[in-house]
Amino acid sequence: MSTVLITGANRGIGLELAKQYQAKGHQVIAVCRHASAELESIDGVRIESGIDVTQAADLADLKRRIEGVHLDVLINNAGLLVGSSLAGIEHELDAYRDQFEINTLAPLRVTAALLDSLKAGSKVIIITSRMGSVADNTSGGQFAYRISKAGVNSAGVSLAHELKPKGIAVGLLHPGYVRTGMTKHTGHIDPDESARNLIERIDELDLTSTGSFRHANGESLPW
Ligand SMILES: NC(=O)c1ccc[n+]([C@@H]2O[C@H](COP(=O)([O-])OP(=O)(O)OC[C@H]3O[C@@H](n4cnc5c(N)ncnc54)[C@H](OP(=O)(O)O)[C@@H]3O)[C@@H](O)[C@H]2O)c1
Repeated sequence: MSTVLITGANRGIGLELAKQYQAKGHQVIAVCRHASAELESIDGVRIESGIDVTQAADLADLKRRIEGVHLDVLINNAGLLVGSSLAGIEHELDAYRDQFEINTLAPLRVTAALLDSLKAGSKVIIITSRMGSVADNTSGGQFAYRISKAGVNSAGVSLAHELKPKGIAVGLLHPGYVRTGMTKHTGHIDPDESARNLIERIDELDLTSTGSFRHANGESLPW
């Protein structure tokens, strides 16, 4: 049995990851701002609510709450997509900053806060997006989201180098185009399929593949 901590576990892909890891017999620590009825209905899951991943005090609190727990997998899943455009940039700067805080900085801050709970063999996962790929950007738009996910991709590679000597692998995973609140329930797949694929990729991750950027369907993605 492994212990898996997931941020943004109250809905969307994070909720589905929590359900599936719990069903496989793992101990799930579901981190969220507010628990949902669906999260509360999962038997045996440990819910740590009241945690905003952009708030230093909340991260210090989370560190205290899980002191002494060894995390096998830390999944930085919480994310935000707010539309942004070139023409509107002067009115949208707060949206740019919010996405930078949540998508780029928070995975690093959560990982730093929980470092004492990670040991050789642990895995740190960042749920990023192929929209953060510069090479794969064939349609433009969504400036703020793309910048924030490109930034976290860069951060993830540095994190992989930083944590390799400790025996901790880091994986950057694109979940697919998934029908969740973020996509207004449009997309190619449902959260259950995305979570199933993500768990397979997380199982495969080791120190030989640390720092890799992969689609949940198994493809390697270009930077
Ligand atoms: N859906 C897709 O097609 C798709 C594609 C590529 C990448 N992704 C990535 O996949 C991840 C999950 O996305 P999703 O589709 O499941 O989105 P979602 O349904 O909108 O869920 C987002 C989750 O992030 C949490 N969150 C946002 N800001 C937070 C904060 N400041 N502190 C704590 N939690 C916060 C939300 O909590 P609240 O309920 O409190 O807001 C929610 O649990 C994100 O990183 C996203 O960028 C999704």
